[in-house]
Amino acid sequence: MSLQAAQQTSPDSSKALYGGKGTRRITVHDIAATKERGEKWPMLTAYDAMTASVFDEAGIPVMLVGDSMGNCHLGYETTVPVTMDEMTFLSAAVVRGTKRALIVGDLPFGSYQEGPVQALRSATRLVKDAGVGAVKLEGGERSLAQTELLVQAGIPVMSHLGLTPQSVNTLGYRVQGRGDEAAHRLVRDAKAAQDAGAFAVVLELVPAEVAAEVTRSLHIPTVGIGAGPDTDAQVLVWTDMAGMTGGKVPRFTKQYANLRQTLGDAAKAFAGDVVGGAFPQEEHTFH
Ligand code: KIV
Repeated sequence: MSLQAAQQTSPDSSKALYGGKGTRRITVHDIAATKERGEKWPMLTAYDAMTASVFDEAGIPVMLVGDSMGNCHLGYETTVPVTMDEMTFLSAAVVRGTKRALIVGDLPFGSYQEGPVQALRSATRLVKDAGVGAVKLEGGERSLAQTELLVQAGIPVMSHLGLTPQSVNTLGYRVQGRGDEAAHRLVRDAKAAQDAGAFAVVLELVPAEVAAEVTRSLHIPTVGIGAGPDTDAQVLVWTDMAGMTGGKVPRFTKQYANLRQTLGDAAKAFAGDVVGGAFPQEEHTFH
């Protein structure tokens, strides 16, 4: 659906998270209102100030400084090695590059699993030192105490269920929530996260029907990735979305550009000009 068509069906398009008139920084209260309005919204990952500024100017209302930075930005094989230092440093850059988007910082593996106090220490660092407006952590019931303490302390929490990449060594990269028991567990986890005070729940790689059921049973928005069309919001890893990722991309992703090709072509054109003496020319030269 075009933005114009979406605005015509929206009850109050001036308040819309994407395409609305607001210019101030988006808050979790704005996110809550989207569920009441039945409004869908987009979220992208970002790992640096310049890319984040492009997405902010494009009107992307929520950016996640995901621990996917491990494999998409820092050259690790998985998200597991990402540290609090790396997360804080890159989250601060994304905050500096944006004026309007709500910036959500991921709590990396090992920064909250010890318990609520460790989670509070890590999340506080992201809020104070990087300036994020919210944090994300993996797990529903298993991260309940962490979510409760962060929310009590005034730190908004986005929960992450389904495929949780920090558990790759136990879960692998497989669709989660298949079968009645697993689906019920997912609904239970999502409700637990909501009851603990989470403002949104990411559902990664779960059957569309299960994601739709979770979405219906919550009053907070669900954010899908590989979870079908019925979640309240959709998130993609920006390097997949823009075609920067090398090699195979997951089936659930859609590539909206081929930046890897464009950038490679630009680098080759520059190299060819240098080797052939076509760059620099008079207009690039000082006397
Ligand atoms: O780290 C990340 O990019 C994520 C998204 C896939 C939701 O957690």
